[in-house]
Amino acid sequence: MELPHGGSAPALGQGSWHLAQGRHPAAEEEEALQTGISLGMTLIDTAEVYGQGRAEEMVGRVIAGQRDKVFLVSKVAPSHATANGIRAACAASLARLGTDHLDLYLLHWRGGVSDLSVVVDSFEALRAEGRIRRWGVSNFRVADMEDLFRVRGGDACAANQVRYSLTDRSIEPDLLPWCERHGVAIMAYSPLGSGNALLRSPALAGVAERHESNPAAVALAWTIRSGHVISIPESGSAAHVRQNAAALSLRLTAQDLGDLDRAFPA
Ligand SMILES: NC(=O)c1ccc[n+]([C@@H]2O[C@H](COP(=O)([O-])OP(=O)(O)OC[C@H]3O[C@@H](n4cnc5c(N)ncnc54)[C@H](OP(=O)(O)O)[C@@H]3O)[C@@H](O)[C@H]2O)c1
Repeated sequence: MELPHGGSAPALGQGSWHLAQGRHPAAEEEEALQTGISLGMTLIDTAEVYGQGRAEEMVGRVIAGQRDKVFLVSKVAPSHATANGIRAACAASLARLGTDHLDLYLLHWRGGVSDLSVVVDSFEALRAEGRIRRWGVSNFRVADMEDLFRVRGGDACAANQVRYSLTDRSIEPDLLPWCERHGVAIMAYSPLGSGNALLRSPALAGVAERHESNPAAVALAWTIRSGHVISIPESGSAAHVRQNAAALSLRLTAQDLGDLDRAFPA
């Protein structure tokens, strides 16, 4: 999809929160990420805190030799949100990922950061040096976004990564339209509802059957239906990743959207 401030990003990516922590064998998880890259899920989302750096290291092993195929996103924790802290955290993430730049660098959550100008100035300095291509935030509510846009340069924010799925539509009344109005892309995290009851929904199964697809693909296609949202499902299983990638070619009809609205009201 086109990014509001220029450039583009894949609509469907891959998360890494629980990777490299023994949920699946490491080789299976690496194969899953590689499968996603080959099927067009070329945005990879990670963070310095995931597995205390082990998720970034795994992503680094997978993208080695194919960095140019991947739109790479990482995040700095608010405990590092000082000028020196952000610079050091970014250098450490780049080292673990085995690359010289990130495509997008996010403040993971606001935490106790009251003065956002330090964050904006640090991100802009990293951008000027070519270590990051663009920057954004995560878990920011409308009030946080308004604080950010009051800071000089804050309106260069490229994305806000927030929870969004059929089972959590809470951003729809306010944050989603605010971000659309202000040119900030939304990145939907936990788009499969963290893999719980959502995927067993009869409504999803019904829509999937009409398209000869699968429930996870329907849930993901729903998150990216507007063309203004990037979705980052996580899976450590290549078979699941193949199901998820089917979302890229699934166009939901008005009938599908109606059925899903009735099962998962806004
Ligand atoms: N910014 C933030 O604060 C924040 C917070 C949460 C998450 N995130 C990001 O968003 C990513 C995704 O979020 P998430 O992990 O919470 O939730 P999710 O993507 O909604 O769900 C992941 C779960 O779904 C399962 N799954 C994936 N594909 C499946 C399929 N086709 N069929 C059945 N099960 C499937 C996975 O298990 P298998 O591995 O067995 O497939 C895993 O248990 C994270 O990895 C992270 O990068 C960001």
